[in-house]
Amino acid sequence: MDVTRIVKGEVRGQEAYQIDERVCRIKLDANENPYSLTEELSFRLFEYLRTFPLNRYPAPGSPDLRLKFAEKFGIGEDMIIIGNGSDELIQMLLTALPPSGSVLIPSPTFGMYKISSINTGHDVIEIPLDENFDLRTDEILRALAEGSSSLVFLSYPNNPTGNCFDREKIETIIGQSDGIVVVDEAYFHFSGSTFLPLLERFDNLVILRTLSKVGLAALRIGILVGHPSLIHELNKVRLPYNLNTLSQAAAHFFIEHEDEFLAQTKKIVAGRDEVFRELASIEGITPYPTDSNFILFSCLRDKDGVYERLIEEDVLIKNFGSSGILRDCMRVTLGTDDENDQFLRALRKAVLQ
Ligand SMILES: Cc1ncc(COP(=O)(O)O)c(C=O)c1O
Repeated sequence: MDVTRIVKGEVRGQEAYQIDERVCRIKLDANENPYSLTEELSFRLFEYLRTFPLNRYPAPGSPDLRLKFAEKFGIGEDMIIIGNGSDELIQMLLTALPPSGSVLIPSPTFGMYKISSINTGHDVIEIPLDENFDLRTDEILRALAEGSSSLVFLSYPNNPTGNCFDREKIETIIGQSDGIVVVDEAYFHFSGSTFLPLLERFDNLVILRTLSKVGLAALRIGILVGHPSLIHELNKVRLPYNLNTLSQAAAHFFIEHEDEFLAQTKKIVAGRDEVFRELASIEGITPYPTDSNFILFSCLRDKDGVYERLIEEDVLIKNFGSSGILRDCMRVTLGTDDENDQFLRALRKAVLQ
């Protein structure tokens, strides 16, 4: 078989999503919640999960969960789709839109916007962020006016830079776009800032949320909120049983016990400034302000060497390639207090070598 003849060129031309799979004791590379569930909460969750039949298909479209999130957000259930992680929801949007429309994204941003766009046959227009990692509104509006962009992805806060873009800029973009503007609030629980109230004003606004950053990454639970007419169309693209029964049930459990889950998130936010200050005090390291559960920092001397020496110390963070705006940068996810201390100690040692 000649794979090059069978697989489409856009896919062959791509690199697969890069994840360093080396195993380290301290894992601070993927913006996960570092805390496992408390014994007691974990016991209650698994007791609850036991009650669901595994011989039956899941409820198609996660109806109970949609109701639950609708109540929580104060919106209609016809404004919600639940996905197998927000990754699936990103792909669903792209699958529903004609490939003739390009996708506009700032750069740098979350890698899956571009990968899934290319896989679904869309051209991608990348507009570099400004020196403060904020949006260049004029350039974005110009590109929207000139082209056929039907979709804009804005990560709010932005991964990997960590900051929230200026709200007014985002509102201008939503207001002036003829297409859909996705505000991806994957890190909402760390920023506390949301565009949900603007759904009443803008019918082209779509909001993404996920439970991956607040303790349930393994279960892949994403939420898309948008205008009912768009949700109606997206449901035709959604696979019937996209979210498995146990994930649906666990998300239900999450909402019922949200305070207990979010106590961990609050702990992470409480330790954020301290890690930032410590990073800033290391010679050659410059951290960038963050509204997320991770910090981007530049390392001006021997970045790749420092990254490897951290791995030798059993600490895995995220490194970026050697070209582009992030060429001097690495990203660390905030861990437990103990993990943060060990990371900082290892980094101090690694930059001195
Ligand atoms: C901005 C952003 N959106 C979405 C995701 C993926 O979320 P999920 O785990 O729900 O697919 C991530 C994961 O890192 C992210 O950074």
